[in-house]
Amino acid sequence: MKLFQPLQIGPLTVANRVFMAPLTRLRSREPGDVPTPLMAEYYRQRASAGLIISEATQISFQAKGYSGSPGIHTAEQIAAWRQVNDGIHAEGGHSAVQVWHTGRVSHTSLQPEGAAPVAPSALPAEARTTLRDAHGNLLRVETSAPRELNESEIAQIVADFGQAAGNARAADFDLIELHAAHGYLLHQFLSPSANIREDRYGGSVENRARIVLEAVDAAIASWSADRVAIRIFPLGGFNGVDNGEDQEAAALYLIGELAKRNLAYLHISEPDWSGGKPLRDTFREAIRAAYPGVIVAAGAYTVDKAEDLIQRGLIDAVAFGRSFIANPDLVARLKAKAPLNEHRAQFDYANGPEGYTDYPILQQA
Ligand SMILES: Cc1cc2nc3c(=O)[nH]c(=O)nc-3n(C[C@H](O)[C@H](O)[C@H](O)COP(=O)(O)O)c2cc1C
Repeated sequence: MKLFQPLQIGPLTVANRVFMAPLTRLRSREPGDVPTPLMAEYYRQRASAGLIISEATQISFQAKGYSGSPGIHTAEQIAAWRQVNDGIHAEGGHSAVQVWHTGRVSHTSLQPEGAAPVAPSALPAEARTTLRDAHGNLLRVETSAPRELNESEIAQIVADFGQAAGNARAADFDLIELHAAHGYLLHQFLSPSANIREDRYGGSVENRARIVLEAVDAAIASWSADRVAIRIFPLGGFNGVDNGEDQEAAALYLIGELAKRNLAYLHISEPDWSGGKPLRDTFREAIRAAYPGVIVAAGAYTVDKAEDLIQRGLIDAVAFGRSFIANPDLVARLKAKAPLNEHRAQFDYANGPEGYTDYPILQQA
């Protein structure tokens, strides 16, 4: 099966096309948003993935939108990520850090000096986020009303994405993936429902995509194009964002611009795992025509669906999410057609090792 064959990604040869999807788990140390030794153990357990894509990780303190998600903007965080990567590399694996700015999907209690979250426009997300109470218990709350960014603040955020690429390299990640999906800041700019700006960052498809391409270019400038990847969510809505009526055309414009940049890969998050419609074959073909480089797909994939789309040349690899939470040795299990552990979703966002590092591998099960 092609799914279990190696793949060239820029300067890397990864062992197989079963990638670990980016998965927020909210177990970083606070204050400081620092990865912990428990997180290093969790990732090391999953290093037989062709590529581990990390949980979404902040580019600045302002970028934070959830209690317990890590950052990659302080020396302490970079040193802690280096420990994570040492473990992954010791097992022969490869890693990408997924970086985000959550924009309006945040809360004043998480923002520097309790300020309002920032967004393309002062429109509330109508979404919830996760905080911790004084005892460390998780609680779901409405996001806070955001304020509109001005152009010099946008330039600072673009620079922060560039700095994150330099920091990813310093932390021994193999790649960086910009999170432009799921209703977070870059996706908020892309979306006409979240972005009603009248300057060069709003209005036309080109203007709405501007910050995304500027952030990609900043990451390229501080590392290298073949180390930079991006995740997008071309169809469907999430966290109170929808892509508007021209969503396929808008996505194809962005994908065409990304194709010019010779990136490490393009990651398409597909919406059907959370209630959206599956991608049509004609849209997949249009994406492939616009993007000749490596395409990673994710969202409710099975081995058969993955192999079929890889064989047809429409995608090159698949990122698995929930099955990687529950199966540290997912690659070996899929190869052997072995049964999978049951995913205990109540521990996805929680504290400690339960439902995190205690899933057994095949020999233990
Ligand atoms: C607990 C959990 C956390 C997630 N965190 C992220 C994230 O940090 N970044 C991201 O782009 N997607 C995130 N996702 C989406 C996954 O990357 C993936 O697209 C989704 O789980 C569908 O794949 P699956 O059907 O194989 O689980 C998350 C999904 C789950 C279930």
